Amino acid sequence: MNCDGRIITITSDSTPTPTPTPTPTPRRDADADDAMQFVRNLRRAPLGRLAAAGSAAAAAATLSSHADAEPLNLTKRGSVMVAPSDSITEVVIQARPVSQHIEEQQRELADSYADFSGDCSYEKALRALRSAFKLPSAELSRLSMHFRREAIKGLEGAPSSMQMIPTFVTKRVTGDEKGDFYALDLGGTNFRVLRLSLEGGGKVGAVKQAKFTISEATKTSDAAGLFGFLADSIATFLAKECGGNPSGDLGFTFSFPVTQTAINAGTLVMWNKGFTAAGVVDHDVVELLQTQLSSRGINLKVKALANDTVGTMEAAAYAYPDTTMGVILGTGTNAAYIEKGSKLGKWKGPPCDEMVINTEWGNLDMTSVRRARKFGGANSAARFGGATRAIRTDRTAPPRRTRQVMNATDHFIDGASTNPGKQTFEKMVSGMYLGEICRVAVLSPEVLSGFSAGCQAELRAAFAGSGALKSALMSAIEADDTAELSKAGAALAKAGVSSTTVRDRVLLREAAVNISSRAARLSAMGVASLLQLQEWDGAAGQPATVAVDGSVFELYPRFKERMEGGIAELLGVEAAKSVKLVLAKDGSGIGASIIAAVAE
Ligand code: BGC
Repeated sequence: MNCDGRIITITSDSTPTPTPTPTPTPRRDADADDAMQFVRNLRRAPLGRLAAAGSAAAAAATLSSHADAEPLNLTKRGSVMVAPSDSITEVVIQARPVSQHIEEQQRELADSYADFSGDCSYEKALRALRSAFKLPSAELSRLSMHFRREAIKGLEGAPSSMQMIPTFVTKRVTGDEKGDFYALDLGGTNFRVLRLSLEGGGKVGAVKQAKFTISEATKTSDAAGLFGFLADSIATFLAKECGGNPSGDLGFTFSFPVTQTAINAGTLVMWNKGFTAAGVVDHDVVELLQTQLSSRGINLKVKALANDTVGTMEAAAYAYPDTTMGVILGTGTNAAYIEKGSKLGKWKGPPCDEMVINTEWGNLDMTSVRRARKFGGANSAARFGGATRAIRTDRTAPPRRTRQVMNATDHFIDGASTNPGKQTFEKMVSGMYLGEICRVAVLSPEVLSGFSAGCQAELRAAFAGSGALKSALMSAIEADDTAELSKAGAALAKAGVSSTTVRDRVLLREAAVNISSRAARLSAMGVASLLQLQEWDGAAGQPATVAVDGSVFELYPRFKERMEGGIAELLGVEAAKSVKLVLAKDGSGIGASIIAAVAE
């Protein structure tokens, strides 16, 4: 860095992992001059100063580190990205994840529909979306610090939004565990019952399974209603698939925050994901299930109770023993990881070298995190009639230097949920909420007015009710690779919005991209923070396998790549190469059986 601290970031376009080659002396070649002129021109355009969300954040962070400015929308020209500067003294070539390239293309397309000569409602809508959901690198780092502070407090037993629950799982899976097991998986829309054999050598034999949909009425009934439904479903499965009423051991995956009191016992701390059944909070969920099984004469005995994150991790570890983290990105979100016994200040049981911890990261408190905001930042002069000076002394003006990471949409969704103030991280990340975030953001007046008149009316009608815009629709819009977004148009028409122009569809995709990018980057922040807590030595190339399950991770376009980009931003490109995010599909039930086998 030179004396005025300027850094130019040139980002390789085609390859995801270029070799960093810092050039110590000023470089003024024709290409760079040309590109700078291009950026100067760009700065004249209103959207050139839009805050960059998601993909451009790495470049933005480099810039804002010296300029303390709203990140510029550094636009690609040919293969060079250049920051505006007249005195380049250092050139840093840094890796740019593939996801960043795709998102830049999407961003450029959205920008290309801006019409500066006439109606600027579209630009205002774009600006509103990008500014509401932006999450640049500096904020991601601040969040990571907040995450680690909360996690450490949770491990010590101090008040914290992260419960960091000891799971009683103290032995690593070897892959050699054997036996026949039954497994249950309760956590979202469906309840699954499985029968499987662990064959050793990391192999799981034939799995029989059945899925039962849990109705809203059952979710919101009471202990007998919910656990009675589970027992009835098990009875149906046993009759159909197992020839009657066998005896056997059960692994029970229960994907809610539970304080475990033994490997096969634990009390529910609170409900989430729309479950509210009365008489379960503060009760042992294994006992509640076992009572219903006994009353029906079912001879299965719960040997292990596990959160789905723990089950997912153990299932992956059966085949890949270096798995040290399990993450769920589906209806809800959470992670489990292996922690040293010496760091478990609150653990009162027998000493252990290490233990799997269920972090319950979904409840990370996002209401109290504030993000840096430059006083008098972009547009503030315009917003306050150009009276920047006056604002500094006028106590009635809003002299906030910070603002919350949660935006107005997030607060609205939290307030309207069954658990306001709780699971605020989950409400910004998981599949249960992404569609709703999109719905509320798109219907906000400043965004809605960016659509054509016909489209506005249809959006209002089709997405009037809460839950009306599904995360799957966002995913379909983002998956569309046609020039005119015609597949997105068809998906929208199915949802009741058929009068869309290309520009409308581009704007809707912009909403989806901004919301899902933020979710992926927040998830990346969680993974990177846990690796740091584990004192993982990425610089030395220590491998880290992170087992991930859930529809958002599995099905949402580019979610994984965006997570990888976020991890690289936080941990460094080289270290991030050793982090493998692997899909561990439907592993949690099997994992609970493995825990039962390990507990033998
Ligand atoms: C629950 C966690 C669970 C996660 C994923 C969250 O709502 O609190 O226990 O692991 O969803 O299913």
